[in-house]
Amino acid sequence: MSADSGRTDAGGPQAAAQDVAQDVAQDVAAPTGAAPAAARPPAIEFRHVTKVYGEGTPRQYIAISDVSFTIEDVVDHGEICSFLGPSGCGKSTVLRLVAGLEPQHPPSIGRVTVLGHEVAGPGADRGMVFQDYTSFDNRTVLDNVTFGLECRGMPRRERHALGLEWIAKVGLDPRRDARKYPHELSGGMRQRVAIARTLILRPRIILMDEPFGALDPATRLDMQDLLVKLWRDVEATVLFVTHSVEEAVYLGDRVFVMATTPGRIVGDLRLPPASAPAREIQSQPWFRDNVRSLHEQIERIESDAKRLNGGAA
Ligand SMILES: Nc1ncnc2c1ncn2[C@@H]1O[C@H](COP(=O)(O)OP(=O)(O)OP(=O)(O)O)[C@@H](O)[C@H]1O
Ligand SMILES: [Mg+2]
Repeated sequence: MSADSGRTDAGGPQAAAQDVAQDVAQDVAAPTGAAPAAARPPAIEFRHVTKVYGEGTPRQYIAISDVSFTIEDVVDHGEICSFLGPSGCGKSTVLRLVAGLEPQHPPSIGRVTVLGHEVAGPGADRGMVFQDYTSFDNRTVLDNVTFGLECRGMPRRERHALGLEWIAKVGLDPRRDARKYPHELSGGMRQRVAIARTLILRPRIILMDEPFGALDPATRLDMQDLLVKLWRDVEATVLFVTHSVEEAVYLGDRVFVMATTPGRIVGDLRLPPASAPAREIQSQPWFRDNVRSLHEQIERIESDAKRLNGGAA
């Protein structure tokens, strides 16, 4: 995790919380309908997408260039797609273009479609989990988890019942933890709250930007297992950005590898699904082989980038 990625990814917890609020507020204004099963469009499609920040200014910067990929909408299942690549290669840019969040949205060139519709802004079909803990500090765990339902106008009793269910689903104790405030929770617990708050809304697409990057290794493995378990329940398409090759290989049905300067996709690998807990899979030969070759690929990408930058990177 680079020092500047907090700035470029989310602008800190408060900005991220505002993104969540904006997302939910727009959900109310513009709910999106499910596509007919017969003509099932892809879950996500990028067609020749380029994003230039500060276009026409002296600070103009091409973050991603000509990025194209298609993620199918796998019926009653969904896929987890990991995005791996060196810092600054545009992983968060890709995710936030899908989310429809500014200033990444709209693309400078090309088209981003979600479930067959061009992305026009945030929507109820997409939910986002950031690395920074994006809870509202003045709300209890229960009120944080049910925030989106409140914005949608669900009556208090109903949303609290559902909220307590989700607090249990993410491995917190509804009796002990529901009334706590975010500052009374560990990092792992806060990330569980963030996951519950997103998944309770049952988005078809879940966007996760290094959600476990700040957790200790053991908690991180637990959270990976939790995500797989919840993902089986919600059957969504997940885009998961990580710097950990092991995490990308364990979680990913598919791993996209990105290179930098400009940001682009240079690898698209299909892998077996996470069929056992993370700790078991990590000793399996197919897992170790894929981890080794991806580490080598990332090292090559990083040394190419250094060469391009004249050794300054
Ligand atoms: N709002 C912005 N304005 C200008 N440049 C930006 C902005 N957001 C990102 N960038 C630049 O675009 C490039 C891609 O940024 P992005 O945050 O997408 O990378 P990343 O792969 O997520 O990096 P990290 O792994 O460090 O989080 C970086 O060089 C970054 O400095
Ligand atoms: Mg990032």
